[in-house]
Amino acid sequence: MAETVPDLRGVPKERAYAELAGHSGIVLDGIRDEVAGMATIASLLHHAFGHLWTGFYRVVEPDALLRVGPYQGSLGCLEIAFGRGVCGTAAAERRTVIVPDVERFPGHIACDSRARSEIVVPVTGARGELIAVLDVDSDQLDSFDREDQRGLEKLVSWFATNGK
Ligand code: SME
Repeated sequence: MAETVPDLRGVPKERAYAELAGHSGIVLDGIRDEVAGMATIASLLHHAFGHLWTGFYRVVEPDALLRVGPYQGSLGCLEIAFGRGVCGTAAAERRTVIVPDVERFPGHIACDSRARSEIVVPVTGARGELIAVLDVDSDQLDSFDREDQRGLEKLVSWFATNGK
């Protein structure tokens, strides 16, 4: 396999996510493995958009605890309780959380002081259970909007059909 990561910086988001979804579908064709999926999607997203941090926190204790999974970027916090920070809020409420300015999100967990804005998307497995959240951090304010939400939710829908 010699797939390259497309550079989608500056490409309109709707088109960029469509291209990325196609790309990840090709790279992951025939794979049914959550960790391989997380690692591949994190790498594609991170390098295509040039994000600050891109990765997954896995549910290791349902409704209680997230633990870091495959990611790209500087060191991530290892564990996050449900209800804590942006990741724990998205997990507890099972909804995508967009944070335009992390300094205005009470309880935001700063793993990297350069982080300015963030989006966290819940990841559902084959039985409809929450298996992880996808966290994307930017060093710019207000980087994420509904277009990112749509694109990222579509990307992680891979786990509902191809996870274990
Ligand atoms: N900022 C996140 C923590 C994870 S790191 O940014 C990688 C939060 O508040 O949940």
